[in-house]
Amino acid sequence: MTIAPENRPLLALATHARGKRSAVTCRLKCGDACAHEAPNTSGNEYFRDVAGRAFSRRGALGAAGALALAVGTADAAAASSGGRHPGRGLRFTPIAPVAKDVDALTVPKGWRWTPVIRWGDPLFRGSREFDPENQTERSQLGQFGYNCDYLDIIGIDGGRGRRALGVVNHEYTNEAIMFPPTEDPEQVAENKRTAMAAHGLTVVELRRSGEGRPWEYVRGSHYNRRIHVQTRFAVTGPAAGHRLLRTKDDPVGRTVLGTQNNCSGGTTPWGTVLSGEENVNQYFVANDTPENKRYGFPTTVSDSGRNWWTVDPRFDARRPGYENEVNRFGWVVEVDPMEPDSTPVKHTALGRLKHEGANIRVARDGRVVAYMGDDERFEYLYKFVSEKRMARGKGRAARAHNKTLLTSGDLYVARFVGDSPAAEIDGTGALPSDERFDGRGEWVPLVRDGRSRVPGMDVAEVLVHTRLAADKVGATKMDRPEDVQPNPVTGRVYAALTNNTNRGVGTNAPADEANPRVTNREGHVLELTEAGNDATATRFSWNLLLVCGDPASAGTYFGGYEGPVSPISCPDNVAFDSTGALWISTDGQPGTIGYCDALHRVTLEGRDRGKVEQFLAVPREAETCGPVVHDRDGDGSVFVSVQHPGEDGSWADQHSYFPDYVAPGSLAGGRWGGPRPSVVQVHRA
Ligand code: FEO
Ligand code: CA
Ligand code: CA
Repeated sequence: MTIAPENRPLLALATHARGKRSAVTCRLKCGDACAHEAPNTSGNEYFRDVAGRAFSRRGALGAAGALALAVGTADAAAASSGGRHPGRGLRFTPIAPVAKDVDALTVPKGWRWTPVIRWGDPLFRGSREFDPENQTERSQLGQFGYNCDYLDIIGIDGGRGRRALGVVNHEYTNEAIMFPPTEDPEQVAENKRTAMAAHGLTVVELRRSGEGRPWEYVRGSHYNRRIHVQTRFAVTGPAAGHRLLRTKDDPVGRTVLGTQNNCSGGTTPWGTVLSGEENVNQYFVANDTPENKRYGFPTTVSDSGRNWWTVDPRFDARRPGYENEVNRFGWVVEVDPMEPDSTPVKHTALGRLKHEGANIRVARDGRVVAYMGDDERFEYLYKFVSEKRMARGKGRAARAHNKTLLTSGDLYVARFVGDSPAAEIDGTGALPSDERFDGRGEWVPLVRDGRSRVPGMDVAEVLVHTRLAADKVGATKMDRPEDVQPNPVTGRVYAALTNNTNRGVGTNAPADEANPRVTNREGHVLELTEAGNDATATRFSWNLLLVCGDPASAGTYFGGYEGPVSPISCPDNVAFDSTGALWISTDGQPGTIGYCDALHRVTLEGRDRGKVEQFLAVPREAETCGPVVHDRDGDGSVFVSVQHPGEDGSWADQHSYFPDYVAPGSLAGGRWGGPRPSVVQVHRA
């Protein structure tokens, strides 16, 4: 039997892709984004002045040295708390980095981990039990989805700490290790529908016996909810109803079915959750237009794509009447977990990109500011400033008002300028003579006061084709902006720049002070301070907190800290504890420094600024996502999503047995001998 390419199941891959991740992760997570030329081919002007500068290799280490010792060696630090207020925060002894083939979740001495919820766990009273050999679309719609990413644990019992809602994104699926192999076209189609049902978000109630104790999920709670690719979303903001959002099924352009590739996110001060629709291009086949190209939509069918159109024709956006279906994804969505019957929304005012997430700071005047990254090589950092002010209090009227805050406001993109001579940024990561990668910057308006600030584009065009708008105003091309998050203690903003192996390669943008390494495999972390510490400011200063990698390697920088630090590579998600210390999860350490991905704490204040301490390591071929740190009062727990454990395996040759660790292939008592992406709580032993 011959199978058409689009009907083939996604196959396990054996080779490694360029850069940091396994070939499987590259294909499934972001549609092989790094195997293609980066879609940002704009020659926006800002970098032309440095494009021709000579590359001069300086010494192996930067002027300040910054050669730090590795934690986990004989010089390892003792248990410490890491924050602005010594004595508060979690105390732990950093773990040593874990070799990349270890299939275990490793936590510090005196701590243990417990799964909170796993792929396939039944959510509703009538849900089918997890049965990986016989998963169906129907069973999956009643179960926790696959590849969990953004995560928050939101208390719902007035601070008593025994009831909470877990809100979790499900970014993508890996059919090669989820289902038994098949070439039966009907089963292939059912597997595709099942995989579609495993995308989206889950809301689930959690309970526990007391603070510091492990949470358990509540099957059948009225809060429990799956939001998936067929869930109805309302479109808000200036582009709602615009011709670019209309399709044959939605001729008024105001209602979209579904959300997908939900990566990171953020919880708002009013208790809703924002989620970023990220690599949405890989789900479609679309017409060959400059706009579709700029977002990386495939224009021809191949067997490497997800080809969802074979079971849901709207994902073929070449079809007359469906050309705009592509424009209905790539937004920040807002979900109200407290109201299980509420309609989730897509906010056009925040622009359309490959959204990693969105995180909010309330400005002094009450307006709310959302910081956002567009996760692809040479893409940009954005911020949105609401028109309206936040209502204080948790009453019904205040919540209803606050849920409209993201529907109108100003949208900006960041431009960074270094303060060191361009010739001192030699592409190796060696520090310039002022011993800091730092400078000033501005938020360049795309939409302001309800008017487009981009020549030749109206407001709706700016919001739907935001990447093209940002190209025109000379935004700074960054090394894959992932989480961009304000520190709730200090207001400073931290951006994880995961990596960019194309920086300075060929005709691509060269190194600059904000992205100072060519062929940047390890990534860096940028700290941004708004002028006057006012979140609505249009000027800021910035510096690089970390230039990541093995501290023994040249071209790494740890905030000037010269004591022992943990190796860190490919920073992705960020979080803060109650002391204001920064926590960073990683996506790609196995492919760069050879260790399992990790969660690290970074001290930001005082003489230990830049000290990186590893808290945990996730199992083989997994990525650490969605860190949450609860360190107040008697709590003391860290939560993570463990995404894509055993990603490079196959049904017959699984590479991970996390988190159940029972006999390969066995299924008993709800425990399975195969990999299950899961939310995990790390707590005191
Ligand atoms: Fe889904 Fe940018 O990570
Ligand atoms: Ca400098
Ligand atoms: Ca991510």
